[in-house]
Amino acid sequence: MPTPPDTSKTLKLERYNSYLRKIHSTKLINASSKLLFRATLLAALLLILFFTITYPPLSDNPHHHLHRHSLLSTSLFSVGGGAAWEKQVRRSSTPRRPNGLSVLVTGAAGFVGSHCSLALKKRGDGVVGLDNFNDYYDPSLKRARQNLLKQQQVFIVEGDLNDAPLLSKLFYVAPFTHVLHLAAQAGVRYAMQNPQSYIRSNIAGFVNLLEIAKAANPQPAIVWASSSSVYGLNTENPFSEIDRTDKPASLYAATKKAGEEIAHTYNHIYGLSLTGLRFFTVYGPWGRPDMAYFFFTKDILQGKSIEIYKTHDQKEVARDFTYIDDVVKGCLGAVDTAEKSTGSGGKKKGPAQLRVYNLGNTSPVPVGRLVWILEGLLKTKAKKHVITMPRNGDVPFTHANVTLAHKDFGYKPTTDLATGLRKFVKWYVGYYGIQPRTQKESQPTEE
Ligand SMILES: NC(=O)c1ccc[n+]([C@@H]2O[C@H](COP(=O)([O-])OP(=O)(O)OC[C@H]3O[C@@H](n4cnc5c(N)ncnc54)[C@H](O)[C@@H]3O)[C@@H](O)[C@H]2O)c1
Ligand SMILES: *[C@@H]1O[C@H](CO)[C@@H](O)[C@H](O)[C@H]1NC(C)=O
Repeated sequence: MPTPPDTSKTLKLERYNSYLRKIHSTKLINASSKLLFRATLLAALLLILFFTITYPPLSDNPHHHLHRHSLLSTSLFSVGGGAAWEKQVRRSSTPRRPNGLSVLVTGAAGFVGSHCSLALKKRGDGVVGLDNFNDYYDPSLKRARQNLLKQQQVFIVEGDLNDAPLLSKLFYVAPFTHVLHLAAQAGVRYAMQNPQSYIRSNIAGFVNLLEIAKAANPQPAIVWASSSSVYGLNTENPFSEIDRTDKPASLYAATKKAGEEIAHTYNHIYGLSLTGLRFFTVYGPWGRPDMAYFFFTKDILQGKSIEIYKTHDQKEVARDFTYIDDVVKGCLGAVDTAEKSTGSGGKKKGPAQLRVYNLGNTSPVPVGRLVWILEGLLKTKAKKHVITMPRNGDVPFTHANVTLAHKDFGYKPTTDLATGLRKFVKWYVGYYGIQPRTQKESQPTEE
């Protein structure tokens, strides 16, 4: 029934009151549905917990137990909020120099992450690490790196990129100015064995991190590891940032390329400052056991034969090997020149920085020469077996053009492969307790 325009004040008041009552009752419904939601969530979590404890992994995939582990250790216990844990995070994230940065380093128990964490800490920045310590390669090496960081008061939170409550809590406890995002499923060949691990860490995990970062107050600036593999079957030489990157040769490369596109989106929508770094075959002390220079060293020392790839057109495979200290300088340079994100409260306030840089050595070396240098350093002849590259995602050639990184933050690689490998081998024999060979021993002895 239409109300006449000249309604009395009491009628208006009455309508206003009923309006208020309506609001209150919706609030009540909201509150009770929230309670119901929380109870359901709790029940679901308890059920999941029950099933993960009761049932063995569904397959014999060695990576299955990781999820069980992270579910138990992070989602339920750490996030539950240990005061001691919070204190460690706060202390580790606090800079020790005026205007120091506070950096969350993901993948801090990894090769590049551990080196970058130490370098940041050394110059007085606050550093908190995040790593899930997965067993893609020997986790004891990750634990050893963690110990190294612990000695320098860098705390590594054990958890997964996909753990949203954990990440929110981290940002709540420590207002990071920067994220150096290095956690990823690395390795080109392993993608054929475990493709999903690449999607989980490099795509889903990255998106989760960006979701948390965009909602954080203040939003951090993000510097993250892409890869030279995005150039894929690119035939330009050297590889420049403006070259096409739409022909990835592996799923790994495709996930890094996807990361670059996702970075564009989060920069565009939320004003996140994002810098992608395309690393070119990084090597050095505390390196990755799944990389050729590392397992060649191991196999040569154990007298096992090594496979050296040649291309399908019978050419030598070459890589632009980049020494870890050079890459660390590049990472810190990118962090230092990263502008602030512009968004707040999950909303963009203005255009923000979006960058991509090559970090390479600018001098590709044939793998045959890598082996020759190792033979000299190890004083042992390698049993070489030259085969045509299988189609497993490897590319025949990489060569970085680093003009842009040089222009923007003075990046200048200074370590040649022979010098870098000498440092690697020195670390390797020390870490694995290998007795040095003398020149005499490696030659046939004469009575
Ligand atoms: N080393 C290279 O030659 C090279 C070349 C190009 C790009 N990259 C990229 O640089 C970054 C660092 O590489 P690296 O050589 O130090 O590798 P790494 O495997 O030693 O380090 C990555 C770390 O991330 C952790 N991690 C993986 N998935 C995770 C997840 N979902 N949640 C939490 N932690 C997780 C791992 O446990 C590991 O400690 C990676 O993004 C890699 O793809 C490396
Ligand atoms: C290297 O990259 C820069 C852009 O950063 C470009 O101007 C230059 O032409 C490239 N050099 C070569 C040799 O491709």
